[in-house]
Amino acid sequence: MLLENKKGIIFGALDERSIAWKVAEKVHEQGGKFVLTNAPIALRMGKINELAEKCGTTVIPADATSMEDLNNLFTQAQEQLGGKLDFVLHSIGMSPNVRKNKAYTDLNHDWFQKTLDISALSFHKTMQVAWDQDAMKDWGSILALTYIAAQEAYPFYSDMADAKATLESIGRSFGYHYGVRNKVRVNTISQSPTVTSAGSGIAGFDKFFNFAEDMSPLGNADADSCADYCVTLFSDMCRYVTMQNLFHDGGYSTTGISSKVMEKWS
Ligand SMILES: NC(=O)c1ccc[n+]([C@@H]2O[C@H](COP(=O)([O-])OP(=O)(O)OC[C@H]3O[C@@H](n4cnc5c(N)ncnc54)[C@H](O)[C@@H]3O)[C@@H](O)[C@H]2O)c1
Repeated sequence: MLLENKKGIIFGALDERSIAWKVAEKVHEQGGKFVLTNAPIALRMGKINELAEKCGTTVIPADATSMEDLNNLFTQAQEQLGGKLDFVLHSIGMSPNVRKNKAYTDLNHDWFQKTLDISALSFHKTMQVAWDQDAMKDWGSILALTYIAAQEAYPFYSDMADAKATLESIGRSFGYHYGVRNKVRVNTISQSPTVTSAGSGIAGFDKFFNFAEDMSPLGNADADSCADYCVTLFSDMCRYVTMQNLFHDGGYSTTGISSKVMEKWS
């Protein structure tokens, strides 16, 4: 029961493949209490109510780009859970350019702004609302999910790469201020390719999923093990880890070449 007496908000569970879905299940198993949230449209399309029932909780709709929705979410979450929060998971990503297969050299810039707003600035907005409401307990833990295209070129990841680089930077920058004021930790987890709605929406996903599987000494990390990692970072076992981008990728990010990949070229 690593998360006994801990309370939080989990963003981004759409269906049972979602990383946030697995996190919710594991946090529940470890005794944590939380509210679930997602964009109003996702509530109509997804299965989040099933998850809420399973975890004995409720869903509070919020578009993570709207300060009004976020303010309402944090107010209601604290009312329902009976006090300040220990953890927040930001598991949100969407690019209209990726969805509509726009090449990186031919982006629609209005959509690009949407990508940045939904996938990166929403992380800042979430933390600013939590900060203004003084909603986090001291030594709380805030996490967001990211991808290695923030550091290296992955052409098919398009404008999401720029959004992830911004997201990671926001984690570091806000992490400084939150650490000083409340000892709150802010980290991003850079996850292996994972079969989910957002993941498989990217062109060529199968190929780079298989490539990463062959490159990583441990193979790709799946959503379940990502959820385990999130639980440890929400727990009191990692109290001095903050402002980090943590690779959860079976060793992919520090492997130059693997024998499996070399065999394919011989
Ligand atoms: N799947 C992968 O290969 C992979 C790899 C590394 C990182 N990630 C990251 O993990 C996170 C979760 O993605 P996932 O793979 O579980 O896919 P997913 O599609 O299940 O989750 C993405 C979520 O973002 C939500 N969302 C979109 N717009 C929103 C808005 N305006 N307000 C609130 N929520 C909104 C969606 O409704 C959905 O629940 C994302 O940040 C993603 O970039 C995914």
